[in-house]
Amino acid sequence: MEDRKVIFSGIQPSGGLTLGNYLGAIKNWVKLQDEYDSYFCVVDLHAITVRQEPKNLREKTLEVLAIYMASGLDPDKTTLFIQSHVPAHSEAQWLLNCYTYMGELSRMTQFKDKSQKAGESIPVGLFTYPVLMAADILLYNADLVPVGKDQMQHLEFSRDLAERFNNSYSPTFKIPEGYIPKEGAKIMSLQEPLKKMSKSDENKNSFIMILDTPDDIRKKISRAVTDTVGVIAYNDEQPGIKNLINIASAISGDSPETIVARYSGCGYAQLKSDVAELVVAELAPIQEKVRQLLSDKSELERIYKLGAEKANYTASKMLRKMQKKIGLIPR
Ligand code: TYM
Repeated sequence: MEDRKVIFSGIQPSGGLTLGNYLGAIKNWVKLQDEYDSYFCVVDLHAITVRQEPKNLREKTLEVLAIYMASGLDPDKTTLFIQSHVPAHSEAQWLLNCYTYMGELSRMTQFKDKSQKAGESIPVGLFTYPVLMAADILLYNADLVPVGKDQMQHLEFSRDLAERFNNSYSPTFKIPEGYIPKEGAKIMSLQEPLKKMSKSDENKNSFIMILDTPDDIRKKISRAVTDTVGVIAYNDEQPGIKNLINIASAISGDSPETIVARYSGCGYAQLKSDVAELVVAELAPIQEKVRQLLSDKSELERIYKLGAEKANYTASKMLRKMQKKIGLIPR
């Protein structure tokens, strides 16, 4: 047990989760939980970097935990917890803030995108958000961080910060590696297939939510933007078709080449309808379990309390180590 490599990852409970979150993150985590000592967190403190309605935040936090469990994350094999239940995350963030440069945070593309939308009143939390993410990862000495492509820049920053701290004192943190799934790494918008699928997109047809009804899923995929080439192929000139193939591949495990061969001579409508059925079949059992878990919250409560206990133990040990190296007097 002790020698197993450690994995850490998390998802924000800011609104519902998309098929991108599922294929880019959760589905992979399920595969990794047997092999690694894993921590999967609902990062509620990250979610409040943009304004959340309190009732909604509470609901979404439990919903994300329910989706984790319904997707196959097994609390007997992995630690599932809520970020704000482990105060070491916020404390470690403060410490790490003191080793972070304004310049490097200003270069984060996610910050640049989000701050443009926020205009004059950009919350400081949005700026220091990658430092909290670094704290999440480094507190558990994670070897591997399974994320979609969009989070790689934040992970690079966590690595830089770990090295900076290690060099300032003595080896403290492992340098975490990113782990990106092959086909689900970046699920694109169904309406603008050059853009990432994102729940914050204004066009509701551009994303599929994990909890969307089968009919909505079918409708959204049938309306997915494609091209006028008319041949099913896997290349960057046909990003809409490529995205549908990636979705099919991430769900079925078949390679894009196998899928292209299967559809030789077929039209786009056939591909769309098959991909829709694949997605519906993948998500239906998850939705059913989510409903069960949310109808009686006692099981969720038991799991997040257990998870917080385990995570607190590991994280506070690392926090004490950091404090000691910095020169803070032990309690
Ligand atoms: P978040 O909540 O935006 O997304 C959660 C995970 O889903 C992946 N993802 C996607 N993958 C493929 N295609 C997409 N369209 C897509 N959209 C989202 C993301 O890459 C991510 O893996 N800062 C992080 C959460 C976080 C975290 C951490 C992650 C906080 N602390 C520590 C890893 C380790 C975030 O906002 O992810």
